[in-house]
Amino acid sequence: MLLKGVTAALALWAAAAMAGDSSPSGATKKACKKLETAVPGLVSYPLALDYHVETKSYWSTALWELKPSCLVLPRSAEDVAAAVRVLKGFSDVQFAVKSGGHDPNPRHASIEGGVLISMKDLSGTTYDEDKGLAYVKPGGEWNDVVGALEPYGVTLVGGRLGLVGVGGYLLQGGISFLSSQYGLAADSIVGWETVTADGEIVYVDAEKDKELAVAMRGSGSQFGIVTQFTIKAHPIGKVWGGTRLYAEDKGDELYAALHEFVPANADDPKEAIIFTDVIAAGGLRLYLLFFFYDGPEPPTTGPFAKFLEIDSTVSTTKTQSYAELLKSNGQSAELLNARVSFRTFTIPHVPSAPHMYAEITDKFSSLLEKFLLNPLRLTSQCSVDFQPFPGIIGKHSEAAGGNAMGISGDDPDRILLEIQCSWASRFDDELVYGISEELTEWLEVKVPEWTRGQHEDLYLPFLMNDAAGSQNVTGTYRDYAKFKALQEEADPDGFFRLRGGGYTY
Ligand SMILES: Cc1cc2nc3c(=O)[nH]c(=O)nc-3n(C[C@H](O)[C@H](O)[C@H](O)COP(=O)(O)OP(=O)(O)OC[C@H]3O[C@@H](n4cnc5c(N)ncnc54)[C@H](O)[C@@H]3O)c2cc1C
Ligand SMILES: *[C@@H]1O[C@H](CO)[C@@H](O)[C@H](O)[C@H]1NC(C)=O
Repeated sequence: MLLKGVTAALALWAAAAMAGDSSPSGATKKACKKLETAVPGLVSYPLALDYHVETKSYWSTALWELKPSCLVLPRSAEDVAAAVRVLKGFSDVQFAVKSGGHDPNPRHASIEGGVLISMKDLSGTTYDEDKGLAYVKPGGEWNDVVGALEPYGVTLVGGRLGLVGVGGYLLQGGISFLSSQYGLAADSIVGWETVTADGEIVYVDAEKDKELAVAMRGSGSQFGIVTQFTIKAHPIGKVWGGTRLYAEDKGDELYAALHEFVPANADDPKEAIIFTDVIAAGGLRLYLLFFFYDGPEPPTTGPFAKFLEIDSTVSTTKTQSYAELLKSNGQSAELLNARVSFRTFTIPHVPSAPHMYAEITDKFSSLLEKFLLNPLRLTSQCSVDFQPFPGIIGKHSEAAGGNAMGISGDDPDRILLEIQCSWASRFDDELVYGISEELTEWLEVKVPEWTRGQHEDLYLPFLMNDAAGSQNVTGTYRDYAKFKALQEEADPDGFFRLRGGGYTY
């Protein structure tokens, strides 16, 4: 994540690029008309202000170019259900569901033609102190959720940059600074108010349907449109954290510290980091690390403390409230304003292979030469983000009943890779997607080489939150076949599977 680079020119350019034509099909026009009666006052068309703002609030500016024929802005679960019942009657009409719009993949929370259902006005968090449960609606961002809970001294397992969207994050699994203590974000969810493919509002929980509750944790958009999550809250007080930026020559020290940190994280699960290895224009390398400690002061011994001894060039780490930390973590990212790609890969922590990390980014850097050495691409950057994913996270997942990602108590230590790029020109889209894919193809060959002779279970599922639309994320899940059958049973006509967008089974 390189956190700079707003240019007014870029915004103007994108505005020009999206002024394309998108005349809706007859069926879509009819569906939109019918929606106007089903949810009066909540349907919006091109030229309306609502429509303009909403189709431009996507993390990746590439998605600003996708123009739905009409937009629905539900205010309640009933509104969502009414919209679904209308869409059911138009089997040729495609739709998409959007919460925060941070998924950068086209056709996940965005759509060209068809109907966009945006949860923007279905947001807000309330807290039941007696039960220790938060009720969270899918719209808005993590800053709002965390801010609403702070007066109670609790928080949720949620986004690490406060500006991230809520609904998609929770449905795709979600990795958090609190994951080593409590599991994936989805593992703390105990109930889902959901609109089914039939347009009914149901409440899903483990008591009613254990398998479906597991499926809800990491299946994205495939089991319904969620209108409210019931989530277990966890205590939070002052925390320590922020970002530190390092020069290229600190690479060796930083990688060595990362290698030691991953297996040691279970000893003090209050520690968390995101290790971002940035490759900027001209091949310039730098390291941006996000640090987090769930307590007012970081430890003074152990691998986490070792990181903190390495000289950084800029540092924002300090003691603060959790809400303040998440807000400041998001602040510089807010300015990104570029086309964005995500792609993921999961690697095991291989004790005998401390050289893996540098090898990965060196490989990426060499693949990127054909892209980043061009002086016209000054504002472009890519990074490999190494996200420690210790085995202990699977223990929490299993204790909570399990998730679709299939991580469990016997899991090895892993590192989740986020392979991320941002750039300005639509003409570079295919090139960038292609380079990221070349890196994961190379990893498919390299990981078995690095792990040869290891006897542990190397189950390496992908985190949906970080993936590219072209990756078969659900296919990496242990119980893929089971969830596929369950999805087909819950959605026999393929309402979500064939018409709704997002990752499918
Ligand atoms: C700056 C930044 C920081 C990030 N940090 C993290 C992080 O710390 N940890 C992490 O795990 N991920 C992180 N992510 C990834 C993030 O989790 C995903 O991009 C996620 O999709 C964002 O949620 P959203 O609400 O914006 O999703 P959207 O883009 O709105 O939607 C994503 C998918 O979910 C579906 N969906 C959304 N809402 C609903 C709903 N209510 N019902 C049914 N389906 C729905 C959509 O149809 C779509 O397929 C980050 C992303 C960015 C851009
Ligand atoms: C995804 O992976 C699963 C499991 O390997 C496989 O059965 C399925 O065919 C794959 N889907 C696609 C679209 O490739």
